[in-house]
Amino acid sequence: MTDRYAVIGNPIAHSKSPLIHQLFAEQTGQAMRYEAIEAPLDGFAATIRRLRAEGYKGCNVTVPFKFEAYALCDQLSSRAREAKAVNTLIFRDGEILGTNTDGTGLLADIEKNLGFKLMWKDALLLGAGGAAAGVLWPLFNAGLGVDIANRTLDKAQALADEFKGAGTVYARKYEDLTGRKYDLVINATSSGLKGELPPLPDGLFKPGALAYDMMYGRETPFMAYARKQGAAIVSDGLGMLVEQAAEAFYLWRDIRPDTRPVLAKLRT
Ligand code: ATR
Repeated sequence: MTDRYAVIGNPIAHSKSPLIHQLFAEQTGQAMRYEAIEAPLDGFAATIRRLRAEGYKGCNVTVPFKFEAYALCDQLSSRAREAKAVNTLIFRDGEILGTNTDGTGLLADIEKNLGFKLMWKDALLLGAGGAAAGVLWPLFNAGLGVDIANRTLDKAQALADEFKGAGTVYARKYEDLTGRKYDLVINATSSGLKGELPPLPDGLFKPGALAYDMMYGRETPFMAYARKQGAAIVSDGLGMLVEQAAEAFYLWRDIRPDTRPVLAKLRT
């Protein structure tokens, strides 16, 4: 029987994950099916129960269920524990194993696809919601000092406090960014969804800097701002999406797909 997988979210209609996994499966000759399933907002656990009963092998989890998925797992990887959120489930031997491939996906996109070396660089992470929390530890582990800017300073401070004693992570207000410069600025806010730009000052980018928006599918006000401000590289988050999918695919199928042709195809 063909192995079955799915991505679960709400909304989910515009997910690119089914296409990405179909392209991975074709490339690696894997017999599998991958579909998008919209779970009711109060029906995530019931959806997972149904999929397990029907013999699915695993699934991806996206907004807004990553925290619920975390709570549902029998076993969690260290990446899932660090993010306190799960985007990849493996159904194995009657148990639910959970991990988080978002951080790995972001780092792979930045270092491999964009050719930007992370070690010893200064990073500014915009936002302190779930998206920001999911990539903070991976950035920190990659050797970066990280400032977190958020409109609501308390939320940024709470994230920064998790790193007490472990390294350099500071919470900052947007007003306090004036005069500071960074090698890497990552937009993990949901501002782009609303066509808004976080209140960023001029002169934020060091020479050679990368501006990365975790959103994809359109040029966001943050990307336009970064181009105007002279960031050397400006990228959306499509590569992160493909790379996190590749990591999940590898965990399920024991084969690493080549992400480059898939990313190229999605870009056309
Ligand atoms: P997600 O899980 O996608 O991160 P979230 O938890 O709702 O979603 O968090 C949204 C983040 O985007 C928050 O950090 C929010 O800032 P506040 O906590 O100060 O509200 C940030 N955000 C949303 N719109 C923004 C805007 N126009 N400018 C700056 N930050 C914005």
